[in-house]
Amino acid sequence: MCGIVGIITKKQVPICSSLVQKLKLLEYRGYDSSGLAFLNKKNIKVCKSKGEIKNLEQKISAKDMGNIGIAHTRWATHGKPSVLNAHPFLSDDKNWAIVHNGIVENYLELKSSLANVNFCSQTDSEVIAKLLQTNAPHILALIDVCNKIKGSFAIVAINKLDNNTLFVAKRKSPIYVMQSSDEVIVASDTICFENTGKDYYTLLDDEFCEVSLDKIIFYDKTGKVIKKSKTLLKKSQNKFSKDNLPHFMLKEILEEKVAIKNIIDYCQNNGLKKINKSLVRKIKQIIFIGCGSAYHAGLIGAKLIERYAKIPSTCHIASEFRYAETDIKPGTVFVFISQSGETADTLANLELAKGFITIGVTNNMHSTLSRAVSICLDIMAGKEIAVASTKAYLAQVLMLYVLSRHLQNLKFNTKVDYLSHVLDLLNVFEDIDFKKLDDIAKFVANKSEVIFIGRDLDYYLALEASLKLKEVSYIPSFAVPSGELKHGYLAQVDNRTCVVGITTQKNLHSKTLSNVSEAHSRGGNIVVCSPFDIEQKYLKIDVPNIDNDLICLLVAQRLQYLAYRVSVIKGFNPDKPRNLAKSVTVE
Ligand code: AGP
Ligand code: GLU
Repeated sequence: MCGIVGIITKKQVPICSSLVQKLKLLEYRGYDSSGLAFLNKKNIKVCKSKGEIKNLEQKISAKDMGNIGIAHTRWATHGKPSVLNAHPFLSDDKNWAIVHNGIVENYLELKSSLANVNFCSQTDSEVIAKLLQTNAPHILALIDVCNKIKGSFAIVAINKLDNNTLFVAKRKSPIYVMQSSDEVIVASDTICFENTGKDYYTLLDDEFCEVSLDKIIFYDKTGKVIKKSKTLLKKSQNKFSKDNLPHFMLKEILEEKVAIKNIIDYCQNNGLKKINKSLVRKIKQIIFIGCGSAYHAGLIGAKLIERYAKIPSTCHIASEFRYAETDIKPGTVFVFISQSGETADTLANLELAKGFITIGVTNNMHSTLSRAVSICLDIMAGKEIAVASTKAYLAQVLMLYVLSRHLQNLKFNTKVDYLSHVLDLLNVFEDIDFKKLDDIAKFVANKSEVIFIGRDLDYYLALEASLKLKEVSYIPSFAVPSGELKHGYLAQVDNRTCVVGITTQKNLHSKTLSNVSEAHSRGGNIVVCSPFDIEQKYLKIDVPNIDNDLICLLVAQRLQYLAYRVSVIKGFNPDKPRNLAKSVTVE
């Protein structure tokens, strides 16, 4: 993870403030510490701080003028979050400063090759700066160091002997370059370019560049100059304000209706046109890949595609599938689901999918995933800032629902009007009793553990609800298919436990309720989330009774809000859960 940024400006500016301003846009990538370095009267000056970027902001001085600098917001992989472990790192001769996103897997070996060099941090990244020392300010020095590195990196470096060049390297972690006549910005996310209106360059793996205001030169890993073309910066509707709401997570839950409308528009405007009859004829099976919430969305997608399009489908956790040595049969289509489009575990599976048709489902059409797949579906949920995914998960599920119905129509030559189901959903989407959910959140907040149970699609919703709750409230929680409860998990239940039964499917309702009752008999505190009637002795989260699978979205919305409220009641910041980051670009 980590967000990195480098800036060169034509005029002298309060460079620290400029860096911090951009860094804030990258804070979703990590927020355990941050730091910056800039050239100040021929010396490199460094400022670092533990915790969120606002702490760094308090340390910097607007009086520090400069025209070149680099900055970093960290999500620690090696070495605890601390000022000493925060980036940037200096070379021993203090000529170079670097920021790094990624993992130097062979850092111990590289460190031991450097006799008499002082290391001041426990990080893997510092070795990059130390390897650069005594080298002249030239990209070949960085290329040489990077060729020694095993692992992943996006690196931006400055050298005090050259106040007009940023040195950039990339392997497996994203980095983009925007150059105009009075400003250069290098950043982990194109979000940093949004107000510039300029197109940008995307570095690919093992590509390097030297960028200044008047020139930009790209190199491959042998040091050969290469040519690259620019990518068009799409106009963005992104807003980064909370709209007077206390948290982004709440704002994003409340934006779900817009996300649904966007997908309706997308389908009406032929967004699925590349998924056509000739493609469908080739599909023998579909393999979904994702992590966390994206994996949970994929589980629903696989189930719906089997249900409607009758295509064998499975969904896998990205970090597992890549090492599973699965025999991939001809006719397999891969569907990669990733909100950010930059998740390293997910992207790693692209390698396995070489030669197969690949479909991406993403919220970021500027991402590595969107560039790599054969067809990319845009879930158009709008920028999601809270670390816990809400509207993007919901939009992924909806996109997979429409995909399943679209495939059904193509395969069986039918004309199922699935969009009318989505429109029906919109009519009831805001029938939600927030007050009642607030009361249930108070009830849940003081429990020692929360177990979510459900069958079939409801189990997949349970997985997501449990992830959401533990991410933002830190209450231990797990999800289990209701029928499995008695096969061991019931031993966990006592009068401090809360069991949330999700039951939205008529044919399975009585079965799940029996499992709920088993937990209740053992002292468990029960909450049931359902459109159907239940016994009054249980607390109930009401769900409008719509007679189709889109009820999933109504359940997801309620359980997201529940998790949000529990987090707030417990006094946490739901937008930035401890130890997590929004975009996980390391393995
Ligand atoms: C969701 O609440 C999580 N923060 C996390 O599980 C996330 O869904 C996962 O890291 C995958 O991210 P992606 O969709 O950007 O690939
Ligand atoms: N490995 C580096 C560190 O721990 C960078 C981490 C990252 O990019 O996630 O500081």
